[in-house]
Amino acid sequence: MRVLGIESSCDETGLALYDTEQGLLAHALHSQIALHAEYGGVVPELASRDHIRRTVPLLRKILAESGTSLAETDAIAYTQGPGLAGALLVGAAFASGLAAALGKPVLPVHHLEGHLLSPFLSSDPPDFPFIALLVSGGHTQLMRVEGVGRYELLGETLDDAAGEAFDKTAKLMGLDYPGGALLARLAETGRPGRYRLPRPMLNSGDFNFSFAGLKTAALTLIRKADADSPEALAAFHADLARAFQDAVVEVLTAKAMDALRRTGVSRLVVAGGVGANHALRQSLGVATETCQARVYYPEFEFCTDNGAMIAFAGAMRLLHGESPQQAGPFSIRPRWSLGLA
Ligand code: KG4
Ligand code: ZN
Repeated sequence: MRVLGIESSCDETGLALYDTEQGLLAHALHSQIALHAEYGGVVPELASRDHIRRTVPLLRKILAESGTSLAETDAIAYTQGPGLAGALLVGAAFASGLAAALGKPVLPVHHLEGHLLSPFLSSDPPDFPFIALLVSGGHTQLMRVEGVGRYELLGETLDDAAGEAFDKTAKLMGLDYPGGALLARLAETGRPGRYRLPRPMLNSGDFNFSFAGLKTAALTLIRKADADSPEALAAFHADLARAFQDAVVEVLTAKAMDALRRTGVSRLVVAGGVGANHALRQSLGVATETCQARVYYPEFEFCTDNGAMIAFAGAMRLLHGESPQQAGPFSIRPRWSLGLA
């Protein structure tokens, strides 16, 4: 069975072909980072227009790379939500139009399901059940995953997502958008312990998070900063980045470990853009080792948004008996919770 996947929920256009026998045949991605950089954040209307521009060339690219034709595709999966409404509409309309023209069925996919199944695209995939820590620019969630389609939400952020907090704090420091990875790099050079930021909800006894206060705490330090030279200012930023990252990493690690302990599950899957963070990986590696658990990550290129995870999630749904829809009227779900069963 061969599935074409289309991701267009935010600022990346991703297309991929996944075959349940042969694995991932091809995938292609276009990032809009350069397009939005001058505005310091994603401009939804520009994002939608760019998805329109990129989708057909990316489709041609993966067909050429895989040496296959659309006629050999069995179904078309697209991200139905959550995400930016206009951006989602591009993928949904394209998928539905193409499916109608080809006489193929469509599969609406939840973006976060794509993320949490993405480690199965690696050569060393986890077994079920596992705890998933989803840490992206739009979401921070802990889920218990029993199997495909069986997701239980344990907790989530009450305000900013972890990646959003990274990006907003980076912006306060004058770093380019999206600053999460840049802040992380800066933190590598920072001195530990010069500043101590709060650990929000560390001892809340549940699996919820809150990161908005950290950004405010960072802002307070920035306002009070009295660096008298460019070198002192650079050192201040590095030390603050370190303090910020240490706080986020400590909270994410503690809550993820608590979820493993309290559910008795021994596998942790980390997905979403913040899963690329080295300090988080190091911290989770040490913590899981001490309690004989194991942590799994998607391949580096599939940590952030991509079409492969949508094609894969669609294929898994088909394999697990979901009947795809005949192409016709379609809908998007910009706000959509996964696993509130
Ligand atoms: O999963 P993703 O590509 O998009 C969403 O669905 O949101 O995640 C993007 C987020 C951004 O907030 C970005 O700043 C953050 O992941 N990010 C990082 C790192 N690399 C990407 N945050 C911390 N450290 C990193 N190395
Ligand atoms: Zn995402």
